[in-house]
Amino acid sequence: MPSLNNHSPRPITLYRHGAWQQLTDIAPTRTVLQWLREDCHATGTKEGCAEGDCGACTVVVSRKRGDAVVHEAINSCIAFVPSLDGAALTTVEDLADTDHTLHPAQQAMVECHASQCGFCTPGFVMSLYAEYVNARSATSLTRAAINDALSGNLCRCTGYRSIVDAAQSMLELRESATQAARRTNLEKVLQASPVRLPLVIDTPQGRWFAPQSRADLTRALHHHP
Ligand code: FES
Ligand code: FES
Repeated sequence: MPSLNNHSPRPITLYRHGAWQQLTDIAPTRTVLQWLREDCHATGTKEGCAEGDCGACTVVVSRKRGDAVVHEAINSCIAFVPSLDGAALTTVEDLADTDHTLHPAQQAMVECHASQCGFCTPGFVMSLYAEYVNARSATSLTRAAINDALSGNLCRCTGYRSIVDAAQSMLELRESATQAARRTNLEKVLQASPVRLPLVIDTPQGRWFAPQSRADLTRALHHHP
C-alpha cells in the first residue's frame, strides 16, 4: 500500500482499559460510537441524534497537550476512530469501581435525583466527569463553567435544575482510592505516550492522514493538493 508521505502506515494506537491497543482493518470513516457499540459491544454510550446535537454519545478523550494532560468530552457520533490515535478513551462503563462504588460525577447525579428515563444520563455523566478531572484541586465550579460544560447535552424529561445541582456538588465528593489511582496512572501513561509518528491510513474504504508537523502537512498537500 503506498504511503501518503514518508511515513509507513501503522495501526491506530489508543489507550483503553489500562493498556495500549492497536486497531487495524478499520475504515477511517467508522465513528467512535459505531466502533464502541457495534464492535466492542460497549452500549453504555448512547446514540440519540447521531449528528452531534444531543450529547447522548459523550465520551472523554484524554491526551497530552504541551506538558499537560487534558481531558475533553466529545460527541463520539461525529468523531472518527483514527482521531483517538495517541489518546486515551474513557466511557461511562469505566468510571465506577468493580465493587460498584460510583465516581463522584455519577454519585452526585444520584444524590440530586438528576435522571428520569436515563437515556441522556451517560452523556451528562461523561461531561461532568471531564469537568471533575480537569478541576483537579478546585472545590467548586462556577455557574458559567457548568453551563459551558453541559451546553452540548440535552435532557428532555428531568429538567436541568437537578443536573446543575449535581455539577455544583460533585467536587465535594472524593474519588475512591482506585479511581484516583487510575486517573493518576492514565496521566503518567499519556505523558510517556509511545505514539510519535503521524498516522497514515490508506484503504479502499477511505484515507486518513493526521500530520503532526508543518512538514508532514506540506508533504500530504504535495501528494494530495
Ligand atoms: Fe446525539 Fe451524538 S448521538 S450528539
Ligand atoms: Fe430522560 Fe434526560 S432523563 S432525557
